[in-house]
Amino acid sequence: MIIAIDGPAASGKGTLAKRLANHFGFHCLDTGLLYRAVARDVARNGFRLEDAWAAVAAARNLDPRELEDADLRGNAAGDAASIVARIPEVRAALLAYQRNFARRPPGAVLDGRDIATVVCPDANVKIFVTASPEVRASRRFAEFEARGSAVAYETVLEDILARDARDSGRASAPMMLAEDAELLDTSNLSIEAAFDAAVGLIKRKISH
Ligand code: DC
Repeated sequence: MIIAIDGPAASGKGTLAKRLANHFGFHCLDTGLLYRAVARDVARNGFRLEDAWAAVAAARNLDPRELEDADLRGNAAGDAASIVARIPEVRAALLAYQRNFARRPPGAVLDGRDIATVVCPDANVKIFVTASPEVRASRRFAEFEARGSAVAYETVLEDILARDARDSGRASAPMMLAEDAELLDTSNLSIEAAFDAAVGLIKRKISH
C-alpha cells in the first residue's frame, strides 16, 4: 500500500504525511530530506550547489541514515535542496532508495514533489496538498516567530514564490498535479481538518 503526498513548500504535506503514517501504521519518508542532505554534503565538501558533478557524487554516496540532522529542517537547507533537485542525475541517483522504501510492508507514505508522477506512479492513493502562497507564508512566518527568528513576512513570501517557481519550472520531474491525484487545498483548513479530509479520501479510494 503506497500513499503519495505531493505539494509545494510549507503546504503542510510533511505534517500530514507523518500523521497519516501513524494512523495507518505505515512507514513514512520525507523525500525532501534526501535533497536537503545532498545539498548539505555538496556545501560541506566545498563545492557550489550548481556543480552537477559534486551533487551527483553526493547523491550517489548519500547515507539515508544521516537524515536526522536538525539543520536540514531549516529554510536555507530547503532553498539549497531546490537547487540540487534540478539536476536530473541527482534525481536518478535517489530514485531506487525511494522506490524500495515505498515497497516496505505493510505500507508507506512518501511526501515530496514528484512522488505521484515519477517515484510511485502506481501509488494506491495520490494526494496533492496545497494552500495559497500567502497562507503558506503566514504559517512559515508564525513558525519563525515562535523560534524567535526575525524574518519579515514579505521575505518569507518571496522565498516561497521563488521556490515554487524553481520546483515547478524545472525540466526534470517538475512539481505538478498528477492526473489521477486528489487535490487537497488546506488554505482554510486546520491541521486536524486536513487530516480528517485526507483519511476520508484514502478510505474512499481503498474501498473502490
Ligand atoms: O519538501 P521540502 O521543502 O523539504 O523539499 C526541499 C526541496 O527539495 C524542494 O524545494 C525541491 C526538492 N524536492 C524535490 O525536488 N523532489 C522531492 N520529491 C522532494 C523535494
